[in-house]
Amino acid sequence: MKRVYFLLAFSAFGWNAYGQKTIDQKVAELLSKMTLEEKVGQMVQYSGFEYATGPQHSNSAAVLEEIKKGKVGSMLNVAGSEETRSFQKLAMQSRLKIPLLFGQDVIHGYRTTFPVNLGQAASWDLGMIEKSERIAATEAAAYGIHWTFAPMVDIARDPRWGRVMEGSGEDTYLGTKIGLARIKGFQGRGLGSLDAVMACAKHFAAYGAAVGGRDYNSVDMSLRQLNETYLPPFKAAAEAGVATFMNSFNDINGIPATANQYIQRDLLKGKWNYKGFVVSDWGSIGEMVPHGYAKDFNEAAERAIQGGSDMDMESRVYMAELPKLVKEGKVDAKLIDDAAGRILTKKFEMGLFDDPYRFSNEKRQKEQTDNQENRKFGREFGAKSIVLLKNQGNILPLSKTTKTVALIGPFGKETVANHGFWSIAFKDDNQRIVSQFDGIKNQLDKNSTLLYAKGCNVDDQDKTQFAEAVETAKKAVVVIMTLGEGHAMSGEAKSRSTIGFTGVQEDLLKEIAKTGKPIILMINAGRPLIFNWAADNIPTIMYTWWLGTEAGNSIADVLFGTVNPGGKLPMSFPRTEGQIPVYYNHYNTGRPAKNNTDRNYVSAYIDLDNDPKYPFGYGLSYTDFKYSDMVLSSASLTGNQALNISVTVSNTGKYDGEEVVQLYIRDLFGKVVRPVKELKGFQKVFIKKGESKKVEFKLTPEDLKFFDDNLNFDWEGGEFDIMIGTNSQNVQTKRISWSK
Ligand code: GLC
Repeated sequence: MKRVYFLLAFSAFGWNAYGQKTIDQKVAELLSKMTLEEKVGQMVQYSGFEYATGPQHSNSAAVLEEIKKGKVGSMLNVAGSEETRSFQKLAMQSRLKIPLLFGQDVIHGYRTTFPVNLGQAASWDLGMIEKSERIAATEAAAYGIHWTFAPMVDIARDPRWGRVMEGSGEDTYLGTKIGLARIKGFQGRGLGSLDAVMACAKHFAAYGAAVGGRDYNSVDMSLRQLNETYLPPFKAAAEAGVATFMNSFNDINGIPATANQYIQRDLLKGKWNYKGFVVSDWGSIGEMVPHGYAKDFNEAAERAIQGGSDMDMESRVYMAELPKLVKEGKVDAKLIDDAAGRILTKKFEMGLFDDPYRFSNEKRQKEQTDNQENRKFGREFGAKSIVLLKNQGNILPLSKTTKTVALIGPFGKETVANHGFWSIAFKDDNQRIVSQFDGIKNQLDKNSTLLYAKGCNVDDQDKTQFAEAVETAKKAVVVIMTLGEGHAMSGEAKSRSTIGFTGVQEDLLKEIAKTGKPIILMINAGRPLIFNWAADNIPTIMYTWWLGTEAGNSIADVLFGTVNPGGKLPMSFPRTEGQIPVYYNHYNTGRPAKNNTDRNYVSAYIDLDNDPKYPFGYGLSYTDFKYSDMVLSSASLTGNQALNISVTVSNTGKYDGEEVVQLYIRDLFGKVVRPVKELKGFQKVFIKKGESKKVEFKLTPEDLKFFDDNLNFDWEGGEFDIMIGTNSQNVQTKRISWSK
C-alpha cells in the first residue's frame, strides 16, 4: 500500500515511477519560462515555399527571422532531411530552443503513392489501408516529417464535391473503420517511434456536406444529423488517440468551424475529453472576416481561440492579435497556456526536445523510401481497389496471348496523373510511375502487339485524333479504352457541376464502339462519374480511380486475371446530377417508391429511375458468389443479449476470389425516423473456386443506438430487419424483435 501512496505523491509532483519528470511536468515548467509572445509563437504555423497547398503569402525572409525569435511553432510543406534540418537549426537559435513540428499532406502514400483514398475505400480492406499508412508514415518520417494532415474522415454524399477523392465515401460505419485503420497505420507503435507520424483527423466538421457540393460552401443541418452521420468518425478518432485535429473552412449552422465552440470545446475538448491540439485549416482563422463572423482579424483571433482553435495555419492572425487581446484582458491567458501546452506536449511525445533532428536523417531517407517492397504492396493495393462494374460476355480476364490489343484514350501513357490529387510531387516521378501502357505491355506476350492511340485530349473539343484512334481500333482483337476526368479535376477546390467524362471522350468512345470491336472501358477518376451511355452500351467496365506509383501494373494484374477484382463502391453512383444527393441509407418517407420505376404519387422524379446507377457496396468479380443458409441465433431477443448471424457464401465460379460480405440493419420504427438500411458490419473473405465459407457476425444493442431529437444516444426495442448481401441492394432479409 505504501508503494501506491509513494507513487501518488510522486505523480502529484509530476514524476513517474522511475523518478523522471512526466511530460505534463516538463510542459508546465517550460510554459513558466515562456513569454506571452513565445507561447503564441507555438500556435503559429507557416507554409514552406516549395509545395504551397493554399493561397500562399509567406514572406520567406520574414518567416525565417520569426523562427529564430521563437515565434513559429510549426512549418508545413518543408520536407527532406536536409531541408527540415536547416529549418530546425534556425529554431535552435531561439531563446528556449523549442523545436519545430514539420507537417505535410501525406494523404495516400508519400514517396510511393497508393490509390486515391476513395479508391482505397473501395478495397474495404482495413488491413491494407492500415499497412499503406504504415508505409506512408515510414517514408514521410524518413523525409523529416513529424505530422501528416490525414486521415480526412469527412462523410460525403455529393460527388460534385471534389474532395470525395480523399475520403471514404458516404457511409459513417465504413468511414469510421477506415479512419481508425489510417490512424493506427500513421501512429504505429506510438508517437516518438522513428517510423510514426502524428495523424490529424480532418476536417472538423461536416465539410463534406457543403451545400451544392461546392467546396468551402456553407453547411446547415440539424445537430441530430450532425451527430448521427458526420461526427462519429471524429469521435472515434479522438477516442483512438489521434494526435491532432484540423478544423474545416465551412460554417456549420452559421458558425464557422474554426470558432465553433459546440464542436471544438463542448464536444471535442469537453465531452470527448480530447487532449491533443486543433490546427486551423489554411487561413481559416482570417477567413472568418469574409465569412462575416468577425469584423476584423482582432475579432477573428478572439473568436478562434475562444472557439478552441489551438494553432493558426497560415492566416498570421494569432501572432498579430493574441498578445494584444491577452494584454487588454479580452482573452484569458489560460487559453494561451492550454493551446501552447497541447502543442508542446506533442513535441515532447515526439522526442523532439531530446533530439530536434532525430527525424532528419539522410541515410533513412535513402533506404526506407520507394523501395521494391513498398512498390510491391502498392501494386497489390491498386489491384484490390479496382471495382469491376460490368463484364458482359466475360471478356475479362484477357488472355496474355491476345494477338493485338489497342489501348485508346488520353490517360494511357500518362505517368504523374496516376498520382491523382494530394500527392507530393517528386522530381523523378515521371520515371518512377508505371503508366497503363507500360503495365499492360509488361504482361502481354512477347508475340502479341500493343497498339496505342490517344484519341483525344482530356478536356477540350478537339476531335482531330479520332480518325487515327478508329484505325488503331480496327487493327486490334480487343480495345481497352481509358477515359474519365483529369487527375486534378477532383481534390480541393475541384467541385464540378457536371460529373461526366470531360471533353469529347464520350464521343470518342461512341466512334470506337462503331467499329464493333469488343471494348473494355477503364474509368479514371477521383469521384463517382456519370457515364450512362457507356454503362448501357459497353460490355466491360472497371473503375480504376487513380492508383498511384504502380498503377499500370495493378491494372494489368486485373486485366489479365492475375488478380480477381473484389472492390466494392464506397459511394452511390448517381444517374444524373439532378439525382444528387443519392445515398443508400436514406429515410423511407411516407410515400416510398415501390420499385425503381414507380412514379405514382411517391417520392420519385417523373423523369428518372429511382435507384442510383450503381449502388453503395456494389462490385463484381470474375467468379460468382452465392449466399445461402442465413441463420440468426434468435428471432426474438431481450435486453443486452447478442444476436449471432451467419451465412454461407459459396464460390460457384471458375476463379478464386474475394467477396465483401455486408451486414445491414433496419430499425423499422423509432422516436425519430430511421434509415432503410444501415451498414453495421462487413467481412472481406477469400474463397477458392468450388469452396464455401461460413461468415459470422454479431450484433449487440450498442449497434442499434442512434441520436433522438434531444440528442440522447440510445436504442429502442422493436422490430428490426437484419440483412446480409453482396451490396446494399442485393441482400437476404430476416426480421427479428428485440425488446429492451
Ligand atoms: C488545405 C486543405 C487541408 C490541408 C491544408 C494544408 O487547404 O484544406 O486539407 O491539409 O490546406 O495543406
